[in-house]
Amino acid sequence: MAIPNAPWGVPLIGHGAQLWFTPLEFFTGLNRLGPVVRFRTGVRPWYMITEPELLHRMLVTGSRDVVKGRFTDTAGPQIGVSLVLDMDFPGLTPFASHRRHRRAVQPAFHPHRLAGQVGFTVRATEEWLAGRRPGARLRLDRELSGLAARITAHAFCGEPVEDVAAAVADVQAHLVPGLYWRTVAPLWTRHVPVPGTGGFVRARARLRTALAAALRERRRWPGRDDGDILSALVRCRYADGEGLDDAQILREMFFYVIAGAHGVGDVLPWVFHELAAHPEEERRLHREIDSVLAGRRMTAADLPELVHTRRIVLEALRRYPPVWLLGRRTLTEVDLGGIRLPAGTDLAWAPYAAHHHPAHHADPLRFDPGRWRPERARILAPCAYLPFGAGPRRCIGDRLSMNQMLTAVATIAARWRLRRVPGPEVRPSARIFLHPRAMPMVAEPRPRLSPPATAPVR
Ligand code: HEM
Repeated sequence: MAIPNAPWGVPLIGHGAQLWFTPLEFFTGLNRLGPVVRFRTGVRPWYMITEPELLHRMLVTGSRDVVKGRFTDTAGPQIGVSLVLDMDFPGLTPFASHRRHRRAVQPAFHPHRLAGQVGFTVRATEEWLAGRRPGARLRLDRELSGLAARITAHAFCGEPVEDVAAAVADVQAHLVPGLYWRTVAPLWTRHVPVPGTGGFVRARARLRTALAAALRERRRWPGRDDGDILSALVRCRYADGEGLDDAQILREMFFYVIAGAHGVGDVLPWVFHELAAHPEEERRLHREIDSVLAGRRMTAADLPELVHTRRIVLEALRRYPPVWLLGRRTLTEVDLGGIRLPAGTDLAWAPYAAHHHPAHHADPLRFDPGRWRPERARILAPCAYLPFGAGPRRCIGDRLSMNQMLTAVATIAARWRLRRVPGPEVRPSARIFLHPRAMPMVAEPRPRLSPPATAPVR
């Protein structure tokens, strides 16, 4: 079967201009061309997978046949190889290496441990609210990034949060020159200095130092468990009883804290931005929160009750998935819907494009939490919605992030509503993560609604 080419490729840079200037439009546009579409970065071809059925084949049923490939080649030397990249244990295949490592670290993400973090998320969010004047204009994107850095620092390293939180924020500020460029730019550009890389290198050293200090503390008190992920990681064991050494724990932690800041930091600004434009959804959210929390502080036991709140977060993750573009490399010849691709082929897939495929999501640009009502969600094709990926390499931090996002939304919306400020439309920026550009909003206190006449939303 012939594979269509993405239009407007240019010699030497391929589709580099589209990747830099209009990446979301470019990848979403490929949905129309076919289930597999060829594009180029430099002279190197990539094969973009657009159909959920083929994504399922690549990520779930055929996951033994692919590795992270290009991402490991480019990010590995910069952030170190950890669970998210291609682990390589002597004598094991890539699939078995990943499985061995994932099984070792999975206990650190036990639901009970994650539930224990809800209290701090509430506290940090309340402190943030208390520090802002009602009616003041906020840069919501920046404010929530700062809150996310604190919540993440606590979830992974416990108290005190200041050093790790400041170092996480510093790395976030330097990720584009440090990582995105290196990952998508043609290989020959590796030898060209990228402006801003020095800032990334300094921020990386600062975060490594802060994480190493936290690890030293844990090693000093081996029996101590502060309920954070680091306390659990030092106890994790491979199947043969061997533990992770300090260098590996630090590599894991480095990636985890970077990934961790993106739920609250990148998704929540959109939640409030969309609620401000959809007053009926906002009213339903307020009704649910007032009925479930009834004016008291949220706890982990409330998480399953926040049904409509969860639908709003799921919809924000559909419209604005922070991890919006990913890749794989084939280890052997693979057959994707009758298209045979040889070993060594670079594949790309984009949660953003999958979430906006008009054949699978009606009216894809519309913010509609009602899509996540069971009767509608049930008929969605597997892998048509994958903000946390799918298969054995699905995100290990999905539950932690969902808990944090639900807790922060409920705590903020219990007290405040946020209003848009007149001005140009806020658009996402798609680099290593998808995040909002400057998002000014005004916070207003809101009165509690009287108890609902009907039962809470289901
Ligand atoms: C809203 C927040 C988050 C989103 C949208 C997200 C998204 C994703 C996605 C799409 C993948 C699949 C990558 C692939 O298949 O190539 C992934 C994997 C991963 N994520 Fe997350 N993530 C989030 C939060 C976190 C957090 C809090 C952590 C901290 C531990 C984390 C750590 C990881 C790791 C280690 C993997 C690789 C898992 C494996 O290969 O076994 N992520 N994430």
